[in-house]
This record gives sequence, C-alpha cells and structure tokens, in this order.
Amino acid sequence: MRLGSIILFVALCSFTAYYIYEPIPEEIEERWKLMLTNSFFRSLSHLAHFSELIGFKDYMGVMYLITLIEKVVPVSDEHVQVTEEKFDGVEVVLYQPKHQGDDTELRRAVIYLHGGGWCLGSSRMSPYDLLARKIAAELNAVVLSVEYRLAPAHHFPVPYEDVYHVVKHFLQKGVLAKYSVDPGRIAVSGDSAGGNLAAAVSQQLLKEPGQQVHLKVQALLYPVLQALDLNTPSYQQNQHMPILPRSLMVRFWSEYFTTDKALFRAMMANTHNSPESSSLLKFVNWSAFLPEAYHRQYNYTAPAVVQGVGGEAVGADGPSQSFADPRASPLLVPDAALRSLPKTYILTCEYDVLRDDGIMYATRLNSAGVEVTLEHYETGFHGALMFTVWPTDFLIAERMTENYVKWLKENL
Ligand SMILES: *[C@@H]1O[C@H](CO)[C@@H](O)[C@H](O)[C@H]1NC(C)=O
Ligand SMILES: *[C@@H]1O[C@H](CO)[C@@H](O)[C@H](O)[C@H]1NC(C)=O
Repeated sequence: MRLGSIILFVALCSFTAYYIYEPIPEEIEERWKLMLTNSFFRSLSHLAHFSELIGFKDYMGVMYLITLIEKVVPVSDEHVQVTEEKFDGVEVVLYQPKHQGDDTELRRAVIYLHGGGWCLGSSRMSPYDLLARKIAAELNAVVLSVEYRLAPAHHFPVPYEDVYHVVKHFLQKGVLAKYSVDPGRIAVSGDSAGGNLAAAVSQQLLKEPGQQVHLKVQALLYPVLQALDLNTPSYQQNQHMPILPRSLMVRFWSEYFTTDKALFRAMMANTHNSPESSSLLKFVNWSAFLPEAYHRQYNYTAPAVVQGVGGEAVGADGPSQSFADPRASPLLVPDAALRSLPKTYILTCEYDVLRDDGIMYATRLNSAGVEVTLEHYETGFHGALMFTVWPTDFLIAERMTENYVKWLKENL
C-alpha cells in the first residue's frame, strides 16, 4: 500500500515535471510563471488533437476555449463609453472617451485588430478590452475594435475583408464627423494575426481610387507577415517556444486557407511553395533583410519549390495562390508598393517564431523610405502583450503596453 502510494506519487511528480518543463531560455523573466501558463496551453492543445482524432470536435474548436474563458461583456465606465455596433455588416466594439473639455475638439482614432492566428481571439477578451480602454483614456482617442469572422469557418479572404470593410466604412468623412474624429489622426494597429491584417489593410488602402482619408500611422505588434518561408532563423530558434510553437503557427497559416491537411503537412516541411509563389521568395529573403546579428549559426537556403504539392488543395486557384496574396502576406510586395505607407511602429520579440517577419518588414520599409520605429524586446516572447490579467500577468506585458501607448501618443 505504502509502496503503491510512493510509486504513484513519483509517477505523478515526474509527469507534472515533464509536462510543465519546457526548456525556456534563462533570460526570460518570470520563467516559472511562463512554464505554468504554457502547460495550460499545451494541455489544451493535446486535448484538441485528441478531440479531433476521435472526431468529437475539430482542433480549433477546442482551442477556442482560450478565447471563451477570457471573454467579457464590454461595458462603459467612468472614462469611456462602450457600445457594440455594426459597420458595413461587421461587428465592432466602439470605445469613446467620455466628454473631456471642449465639445468641438476633434479626437484621434485607433482601429484595433485582435490576434489569435485568424482562428481564435475576440475583441471582447479582457486583455483587448483593457488595452482599448487604456488607449481611449490616455490618448483621448476613439478605439474601434473589430470583431472580424474567423477561420476555419471563414477562410481567407473573409477575415481580411471584414476588416477592410470596417476600415473603409469608418474612413468616410461623415462617419468620422459623427464620432468627432480628426481625419488626419487615425491609426490602424493589431497584434500577431491582427498585425497581419493591419499591415495588409494599410497597403490595400493605398490602391483605393479616390480614397480621401488616409491613415496617419500603423502599429504592428509582433505581426505575422509572410507564409512563404516558415523556416527563417526565428522559426528555427523558437520552434518550441511558448506560447506559439512553430507547429501552431503553421497550423494557423494552413487553416487560414483550407481545412485540407495536405497544406499543413507541406508547410511543416516548408515545401509548400509552387513555381508561381517562388518568384516572390526574393521579398522574404532573410539573408538579405535580416541584420547579420540575427543570422546566428543559420545558413540561408531558399525553401524547396515543389510542383503540385499537396494535391488539389494547392492547385492553381487553391491556397498556393492565396498564401502568396499580399492581403495574406504583406511582405510579398515590391518596394514601390511600400513607399507611400504611413509612419510605422513594429514590435518584435527575440523569443518568437515571428521575430524575423517583423524585422524584415522594418528593413524593407526603411529602404523604401518609410519612417519606422522597430522596438525589439530581447527577453520578449510571442503574445506577451496579452498577459496583463491576473493570474497570468507578466511584467514585460506592462512595459510593452506602456511603450506602445507612448509611441501612439507621440506619433498619432
Ligand atoms: C537571397 O539573398 C542572397 C544574398 O544575401 C542571395 O545570394 C540569394 O540568391 C537570394 N535568394 C533569393 C531566393 O532571392
Ligand atoms: C553554416 O555554414 C558554416 C560554414 O559553411 C558551417 O560551418 C555551419 O555548420 C553551417 N550551419 C548550419 C546550421 O548548417
């Protein structure tokens, strides 16, 4: 009996230790907290795989729990009036600072796009709700948080188009006047997949004939910017890092376009490029666009180009056309398409598979003559900005939020 308990106890301890332990770099602050947080994400991911395997619920359906447990009903408070509306048929949560001073004074506006790999997340999650309130209060700005539809129920381009429709609707002079917004002081911003949508929208707006109101700035927080090379040095270095291991990012990418697992497998092997998309590889060539320091021990080899990989799903009209579409991969445009972009803020984290996407975009924007602030966090990890709510509150999230809001304050 006693021996049995000891064996059980030891087994339980080693299981827990194995489960929680992830080789997290020493430099990361509050490592144990991150390990614990990550063990929750990993457990859920395993459960999601299992659920999909037995045909109970698909992977993203189970992962969506992350969104559900943090959902709140956005309500007004003493500083900010919060309303839920529809802009061109798309749900938005609108944060308006309560009357401050002069009635006729125009305010700034931030269009915010939440992260979650185009498959998860909501503007109604408490960290996004808190961030929107903070921006509204500190900048005396109107914040428009877009509840775009999600994959896999709505594949590309639906999430992108939802966002684009909202932005187009909002940037009309009559609409801006209704909310007392200064047409010369509007930002688009977002984190992770939201940063992807923000970058894509900024580019597409430049092509809009007759667009009268332009964005003043774009602020991209650890954005996803390209689907062609999923083996950049940061993808290699951080392939097992919490909370976004490479396999999960590849999963988000593939599910953005299709439910066909052939694309996921091809992307995991980095052999998803077709002869058509391969002509765009020059735009994501990290050997050319990453400063030497980020090359580390990695040597550049262009991703393999395979004819017809993944069967029908990756055919002429299939996802291979989509993932090379600049509305999905904003890095894939020539310099000429970058030149007129607004002033840009890019936040990157050392311990993030997406680090190099952000750094390469900063390099490319810079050489196209766009004013760029690249804020790189040496001890940062992907998704850190979301961790502002107890018990998963991290000091780095606070610093990132302060610096990001400060930049907006000074540049918008
Ligand atoms: C990437 O850049 C390197 C030089 O830094 C060059 O040798 C290589 O051919 C380029 N590859 C592609 C696919 O553009
Ligand atoms: C990169 O190339 C150098 C020199 O050819 C070699 O010593 C090194 O092992 C290579 N690194 C990797 C990760 O393949």
